[in-house]
Amino acid sequence: MTEFLDDKNAAITDGIHKKGWSSYEQYLSAEDCAILINRLDMLEEEQRLEAAGIGRKDEYQINKDVRRDKIHWLYRDKCEADTFYLTEMENLRRDINRGLFLGLFEYEAHYALYPPGGFYKKHYDSLKGSKNRLVSTVLYLNPEWQEGDGGELAIYVEENIGSAAPEKIIQPKLGTLVAFLSEDIPHEVLPAHKERKSIAGWFRCNSSSADRVDPLR
Ligand code: OGA
Ligand code: MN
Repeated sequence: MTEFLDDKNAAITDGIHKKGWSSYEQYLSAEDCAILINRLDMLEEEQRLEAAGIGRKDEYQINKDVRRDKIHWLYRDKCEADTFYLTEMENLRRDINRGLFLGLFEYEAHYALYPPGGFYKKHYDSLKGSKNRLVSTVLYLNPEWQEGDGGELAIYVEENIGSAAPEKIIQPKLGTLVAFLSEDIPHEVLPAHKERKSIAGWFRCNSSSADRVDPLR
């Protein structure tokens, strides 16, 4: 594809273009991931993670049958970890826009901690046509994740969120970045057998907060 893209961002952009999703191992180095893990661990220790909710505006609710993760939003210029990650994603945003002209405008992200037994049932990140969240990202922060530890991301490609087998099962291994079209790709987090750490984020097309899932930070 376009040569001026960062190699890894070019691969991500290409995957989104061809399949609607893409997965890249060691997108970030172990050292860079350690900064993010330290931040998440600190937030947990200080009990600053909150139960994640589902639904928009008035329908917002916490439903433990749908998802069981605890989250904390990243803030611009708040700390080294948040600033570092948001800068990385700003570079990705710029590269995806260069390659695909999606008009990604801004980015929001939260740390997520799934306790043992945690999951997130099959869902879309954005409603079709809402043009709110356009591209989803997930970075995994689990240094010793083994097959059998569960917590995989299952990617589906069918139009209908119904049955069908997953297109791809992704292990939440340290440094892996997954990106996919928020309106087109149903996905789910299978039950994790041990604590599972990640940063989930969304590129949006504008700053409107009319149709969003969570308040903008
Ligand atoms: C989400 C989500 C996937 C993952 O937070 O919306 O689908 O693998 N996360 O953590
Ligand atoms: Mn999701």
